[in-house]
Amino acid sequence: MTGSSHDHGLYARSFADVYDAWYEDLHDVAEIVAAFAQRCEAGASIIELGSGTGRLSTPLTHSGFTVTAIDSAVSMLAQDFSSSRKLAADMTRLPLADDSADAALIAYNTLFNLAGSDLQAVCVGEAARVLRPGGLLAIEAFIAPETDPETPFGVSVVPHHTHSDRRMAILTWHDPAEGEVITGAHVELGPEGVRTRPWQLVYRSPASIDELAAEAGFALTERHNDWAGTPFDPAGVRHVSWYQRA
Ligand SMILES: C[S@@+](CC[C@H](N)C(=O)[O-])C[C@H]1O[C@@H](n2cnc3c(N)ncnc32)[C@H](O)[C@@H]1O
Repeated sequence: MTGSSHDHGLYARSFADVYDAWYEDLHDVAEIVAAFAQRCEAGASIIELGSGTGRLSTPLTHSGFTVTAIDSAVSMLAQDFSSSRKLAADMTRLPLADDSADAALIAYNTLFNLAGSDLQAVCVGEAARVLRPGGLLAIEAFIAPETDPETPFGVSVVPHHTHSDRRMAILTWHDPAEGEVITGAHVELGPEGVRTRPWQLVYRSPASIDELAAEAGFALTERHNDWAGTPFDPAGVRHVSWYQRA
């Protein structure tokens, strides 16, 4: 897959109108704030890359951090009224000065929104550029199972965690040379008919993210299963990885 074939606005077009309602119950916002409070000085400057509707940048701002929320989708940023600073920008080309931030956050699989390993590497490199020496980068992402479930034509259907009776995700999984592309659509069955919300991700394993980070000058300092610091289990479903800039 090449970067040029990727539809950068797809995620926002599919989810801007429902993101907050669907994901308001994600369990760990307080844990994320606490995780940064444990590792950063009070009032530290934090950049959130792919901040979306401000689900995390808003509570981080309210807890006293100076947050720069960056998202390429104006429709997502428009829902965020509270971040210290909002910038409509691409997370692979940050409009920020070198060495200007204490910490950076790429949460909830957002790194995988970037099409291909090349753009993901550029993004992590940009995070390294704008962080001061010693600055922290936190990346949260899911861990794919070792082998895909054997489903007809590689298609699987899973219920969505909200309203599993009428929301589901249909996923197809490819393995092209340039990364593991997962194409899917959330499907909503409602009284007014069926609404589909397509998306596309390019998956990287934790070890592969470590490689990107090392190339950008980061060292892995901590890896957990979640933001609360549960010990990392490689057989788990996700990881929260903390990197420090040299
Ligand atoms: C899964 S949402 C996560 C939002 C937020 N981080 C959270 O945890 O709720 C991914 C976000 O990344 C944004 N995004 C995708 N590609 C981007 C890019 N190249 N530059 C900046 N933002 C991007 C999308 O618009 C979307 O708001």
